[in-house]
Amino acid sequence: MRYTFTLAISLLASAANALLRFPCAQLLIDRRDPLVNPGQSPSPHLHQILGGNAFNTTMDPSEADISKEATCTSCQFSEDTSNYWTAVLYFKAKNGTYKRVPQVPNAGFDGVNGGMTVYYMQDGLYNFQQTSKVTAFQPGFRMYIGDVNARTKEQAERFRQLTYTCLETIGTRDPQILDFPHGPCKAGIMTALRFPTCWDGVNLDSPDHMAHMSYPESGTFESGGPCPTTHPVRMSQLFYEVVWDTRQFNDPSDWPQDGSQPFVWSFGDGTGYANHADYIFGWQGDALQRALDNPCYIACPTLKNQTIAEMNKCTVERAVREDIDSWTTTLPGGHVANYGKW
Ligand SMILES: *[C@@H]1O[C@H](CO)[C@@H](O)[C@H](O)[C@H]1NC(C)=O
Ligand SMILES: *[C@@H]1O[C@H](CO)[C@@H](O)[C@H](O)[C@H]1NC(C)=O
Ligand SMILES: *[C@@H]1O[C@H](CO)[C@@H](O)[C@H](O)[C@H]1NC(C)=O
Repeated sequence: MRYTFTLAISLLASAANALLRFPCAQLLIDRRDPLVNPGQSPSPHLHQILGGNAFNTTMDPSEADISKEATCTSCQFSEDTSNYWTAVLYFKAKNGTYKRVPQVPNAGFDGVNGGMTVYYMQDGLYNFQQTSKVTAFQPGFRMYIGDVNARTKEQAERFRQLTYTCLETIGTRDPQILDFPHGPCKAGIMTALRFPTCWDGVNLDSPDHMAHMSYPESGTFESGGPCPTTHPVRMSQLFYEVVWDTRQFNDPSDWPQDGSQPFVWSFGDGTGYANHADYIFGWQGDALQRALDNPCYIACPTLKNQTIAEMNKCTVERAVREDIDSWTTTLPGGHVANYGKW
């Protein structure tokens, strides 16, 4: 009897629907990467970074708790001073020069300065129930997903769900493909980056910034697949959507004459297979777990939110002085487009 009662309570407790989906404005665009290249300014390639203003060249968790150090965040929920980042997209014109592709906010987030949309989910995106119990990340937690050296479909398939969508309209979501779209995309290109969801329960990081996390042992996060015994803790799925505004580059007469697509990542990948993303957790106190355990569907009553003007105002100065916006003959850091046939 008592057992049944406890079970009923725990089912109730885990039945809260939580799906966090919120915009974060651009914090800065810079050649720094405190996760993969701590201490290096400049780091090898250019990133677009969002979140709390404690972002820095070095972010050793033993030195500082960013949720206490940050004084503002470019994300909608003001208790989220995490940092989220990806590489930057460039266009390579027929004449061989490069130009940075700007970002625009997602549908419904007009007025946000570029940036991206961040999700923390309990279940797959199209399961609007969002009722499974998930654990929030801990202070000091960080992770990475993807491979900057991937140049083939097989290499990209080691990671699930690092995808591109050719946007017909800002609302297009499918199909999702693993390489750059091959023709002009009317409303831009969306990159969607989903992180693994099973944690080893011990390590806040690992040498490759990935080994402490795993995909489910069978099935997927979306299908409720179980976590492996090596990584038993089912975490919230962290998911980024970035909208690259390629509209100004859609004129076919600027494209390479051999019919190949002209977009290239800031580290030179011209295939798209090296799509990757970085995360450093920085929610204040138990704000994230609280949001995940309480009813929250995009509007989250347990969280403090801020206005778009406040989000846009939170920025960090670039540390690396270089031209990232003119037509240039190489990408920042001297990279040039490559397709794996070097
Ligand atoms: C970044 O680190 C440098 C060197 O430790 C420090 O002087 C600076 O205040 C830090 N910036 C931020 C935004 O924390
Ligand atoms: C290269 O092409 C772009 C796009 O057509 C153009 O804006 C730029 O001025 C060209 N640069 C040179 C050096 O011709
Ligand atoms: C932001 O806060 C206001 C006032 O508390 C609330 O009405 C609104 O739904 C919140 N928005 C989100 C996205 O949580």
